[in-house]
Amino acid sequence: MNPQWNNRALLSGRGLVKRYGTQYALAGVDIDIQPGEAVAIVGPSGSGKTSLLHVLAGILRADEGEIHLAGQRIDQFSEKKRSELRRTEFGFVFQQGMLVAELTAEENVALPMLLGGAGRKQALAAAREWLTRLGLHGKEGNRPGELSGGQAQRVAIARALTHRPKVIFADEPTGALDTRTGKETMDALLVAAADAGASVLIVTHDRELADSLPRTIVIRDGKIATKVAVP
Ligand SMILES: Nc1ncnc2c1ncn2[C@@H]1O[C@H](COP(=O)(O)OP(=O)(O)OP(=O)(O)O)[C@@H](O)[C@H]1O
Ligand SMILES: [Mg+2]
Repeated sequence: MNPQWNNRALLSGRGLVKRYGTQYALAGVDIDIQPGEAVAIVGPSGSGKTSLLHVLAGILRADEGEIHLAGQRIDQFSEKKRSELRRTEFGFVFQQGMLVAELTAEENVALPMLLGGAGRKQALAAAREWLTRLGLHGKEGNRPGELSGGQAQRVAIARALTHRPKVIFADEPTGALDTRTGKETMDALLVAAADAGASVLIVTHDRELADSLPRTIVIRDGKIATKVAVP
């Protein structure tokens, strides 16, 4: 097979391989994400979902393969350029929000913009706007320890969006929440990403959530197994 580059895709990977010693975390993955598309990534524990997200986002370097963002090859970027890309073009939501405990909600949300060189006033204004959109008006001054789990995760979502990234990477973003809060948080993420016109890749063990998204990619043993019939 010789998969062609898909020119319309925003983010593409071809022949992605990631090895840990003799263990293959990714064993040759081809993937295309369209602009504004929301995609679920599912698969058994240890199948390579986190590895795929990290390789696509440039957190990890692949051993083989190519990654293109908006037509530009990014996998050969230096560490400095990849870290800049992560700050500007990508947003991240992890299982635990990983907020900075000492900062308020609005300061946490403003952080990526501040790191990107935005002025404090402008960054805090943008942060407050996203917090309001995510239903957190009134909580701007709360520190993470003064928020519920669902609220903290919505702060993390606001933080992933404030700098207007092209792609949001979410690794089990509701894994630590109860079912109802998890669903509300996920809805908030999807609405906010759609608002921002960002593509979203969501790793999830929640079948119902995956089924609610337009496309699901199944990973097994480091490979894409989308051809498997799902009952
Ligand atoms: N830093 C590492 N060193 C060695 N092996 C690793 C490392 N990170 C991941 N692996 C291995 O790579 C494989 C894929 O791991 P990965 O974390 O991508 O799986 P996953 O699908 O995200 O699993 P889970 O659903 O449990 O989060 C696993 O076999 C794992 O043990
Ligand atoms: Mg994982």
